[in-house]
Amino acid sequence: MTIQTGVTGFKRAGRLDGIELSEIVQISEHAARLRAGGVDVIALSTGEPDFPTPAHVIEAAHQAALAGQTRYPATAGTPALRAAIAAEAGVEPANVIISTGAKQVLAGAFLATLDSGDEVITTAPFWTSYADMVRLAGGVPVVLDCPGEQGFKLTPAQLEAAITPRTRWLLLNTPSNPTGAIYSQAELQALGAVLEGHPHVWVISDEIYQHLAYVPFTPFVQAVPELTDRTLIVNGVSKAYSMTGWRIGWGIGPASLIKAMVAVQGQITSGACSIAQAAALAALTGPQDLLAERRAEMLARRDLVVAGLNAAGLDCELPDGAFYVFPKTPAAMPVDHEFCRYLLDSTGVALVPGRAFGTPGHLRLSFAYARQSLEEGLARIARAVAAL
Ligand SMILES: Cc1ncc(COP(=O)(O)O)c(C=O)c1O
Repeated sequence: MTIQTGVTGFKRAGRLDGIELSEIVQISEHAARLRAGGVDVIALSTGEPDFPTPAHVIEAAHQAALAGQTRYPATAGTPALRAAIAAEAGVEPANVIISTGAKQVLAGAFLATLDSGDEVITTAPFWTSYADMVRLAGGVPVVLDCPGEQGFKLTPAQLEAAITPRTRWLLLNTPSNPTGAIYSQAELQALGAVLEGHPHVWVISDEIYQHLAYVPFTPFVQAVPELTDRTLIVNGVSKAYSMTGWRIGWGIGPASLIKAMVAVQGQITSGACSIAQAAALAALTGPQDLLAERRAEMLARRDLVVAGLNAAGLDCELPDGAFYVFPKTPAAMPVDHEFCRYLLDSTGVALVPGRAFGTPGHLRLSFAYARQSLEEGLARIARAVAAL
């Protein structure tokens, strides 16, 4: 059987207007095609650690499968994993939902809360999926520009000015993808003070890079406990435990919100993979030394990359967390996607243009790669910049 491509008559839903596969995925796929064609590609474009999933986690998954944990799990998550996350956070299991990655937690929260035209305030640079997820759920992303001069962070005055009667959420990401910015306790408290005056605005704090902080990290509800009853914390095992493919994330928030998100999840995916949940439980309750070891390695890579990029003539700040740097494009080729295309075609190095994060004129480089690849990538970038 042949399925025709490009047939007429297919109509995309209006809610998909302007929504495509994320530019990060498109670049990774393009790099993979070049590699398959024999090009020596160094892709520094993907946000996943190169470390393996810990062996004891894989073993736990194996044992769970052998023990028969192969049936539909409870929609909100397995009781064991929910209880472990709740205990760690000092809340009840009813305050916890387990989903298919942090991504589904975010999507579920928007689907469960946004009516058409409801607004979600977030910052640029932002993680690529935020704005599109809000749009898919019928909401309106209100993106506030937070340039490097303000540390890529939202100021209380910006927040105050952006709140309207339609605002449902403030969406924060600390540590941030793509800038690595981390809000200090005082900065979170200052934002919290603005929200005190607007009880209709809730907060999503995406803390998925929590364990990759190179300066002190303060969780949102620790800084602003008085907003706990209108805050959703988003986290997961993907980045901390090198478990991107296992697809387990969670949300912690008021029981009424969690219940609504469980209703959404129940109609879309049901509970997250039972075996992956057993693996996540092993990651969270097993030895934790690997977190510090991996953070130390990432820190060394960060310093290597920031020094290399600045030496190559790109203006690059030192990020406080996560595993990304977000330098400016070179003055000789300031348009970010043009520079990324030039770099990929002339040297085989794949980076992501800042426009994918709402901030053109920048580049995102992930340093979650072996040092050898980073060194080779930096040498090629330096040659490409020098040749402009
Ligand atoms: C800021 C941020 N939030 C959420 C996610 C999604 O994580 P998960 O793999 O758990 O879906 C990512 C992944 O890149 C991310 O960078």
